[in-house]
Amino acid sequence: MVTVKDIKACVEEEMQLFEQKFKESMKSDVALLDKITHYIIKRKGKQMRPMFVFLTAKTLNTKVEESTYTAASLIELLHTATLVHDDVVDDANERRGFFSVNALWKNKIAVLVGDYLLSRGLLMSVDNKEYQLLEIVSTSVREMSEGELLQIEKARKLDITEDVYFEIIRQKTASLIASCCAAGAASVTEDQDLIAKMKKFGELVGLAFQIKDDIFDYGSGDKIGKPTGNDIRERKMTLPLIYALNTSNKSDRKELINIVKNHNEEPKFVKIAIKKVIAAGGVKYAHDRMIELKDEALALISDIENNQAKEALIGLVEYTVNREK
Ligand code: IPE
Ligand code: IPE
Ligand code: MG
Ligand code: MG
Repeated sequence: MVTVKDIKACVEEEMQLFEQKFKESMKSDVALLDKITHYIIKRKGKQMRPMFVFLTAKTLNTKVEESTYTAASLIELLHTATLVHDDVVDDANERRGFFSVNALWKNKIAVLVGDYLLSRGLLMSVDNKEYQLLEIVSTSVREMSEGELLQIEKARKLDITEDVYFEIIRQKTASLIASCCAAGAASVTEDQDLIAKMKKFGELVGLAFQIKDDIFDYGSGDKIGKPTGNDIRERKMTLPLIYALNTSNKSDRKELINIVKNHNEEPKFVKIAIKKVIAAGGVKYAHDRMIELKDEALALISDIENNQAKEALIGLVEYTVNREK
């Protein structure tokens, strides 16, 4: 089996160079901004998106190009901006095991810092004349905002179906991971069919990625470095809950809806709802769907010639569904 260590070893050099570029790209003369970006850089995440960019490029070409680095940096900047904004939207005070930016510096600063990070990513790509990259990534930026807004609309009405759930996670999360693989491919090949195929692959992985994240929210949360139970608190109906509502008897369904609607800010009730969803098999169902998507993704790239990078890419897909944070 490919371990996380093997995956990292395969892109070690690339990730080091990427980190330099990433840090460099955030620098600012505004002292407050510099302080906050320092804080963000110190608490880095799993960096899965740049790994998807590099491993896709190396799978297709064995080596990466200058534009692969630009793609990885732009996407991680954009991802970071999204998280800073997401914690404002979700009113979350913990991220990556520490206080979130909004928790330390307040919402208005977090909103502006997110915008700054996004603009630095875009400028870096313009400076490098990476127009195809900008096209790939700008579509995701639009989709991510649409996905988050659709999610808010559904949290208000509480009328979400499984189909709408998949549309939300496709937009808010899968779309960016699809961009990682599309941009990684586009940095080394002109073959548009191949780029489209890698994009589809990334989308399937991205769907599995968000289902995993949504399952975390129903867990104990000792390792994940962010709050759990937050989704019910925010009235976010994710796959475990949707399944539980669709399959429970009338009285259980009524009780669940009542908690999400009227007691979502009371931790005691959120705990009860979580227990009920798990007992109804909601987490198990979500897990099974996630594995199906992961297998679909791997099947899609089965005809691509094997090399060390491809082994690591497959390992990263497995890690997406097996990870503990
Ligand atoms: C968190 O993404 C946001 C989601 C799309 C669920 P990650 O889990 O990749 O966050 P970091 O970068 O590792 O902290
Ligand atoms: C991911 O959804 C949204 C983004 C695309 C940032 P979540 O709101 O579930 O992400 P976490 O759990 O806060 O990381
Ligand atoms: Mg959130
Ligand atoms: Mg989440």
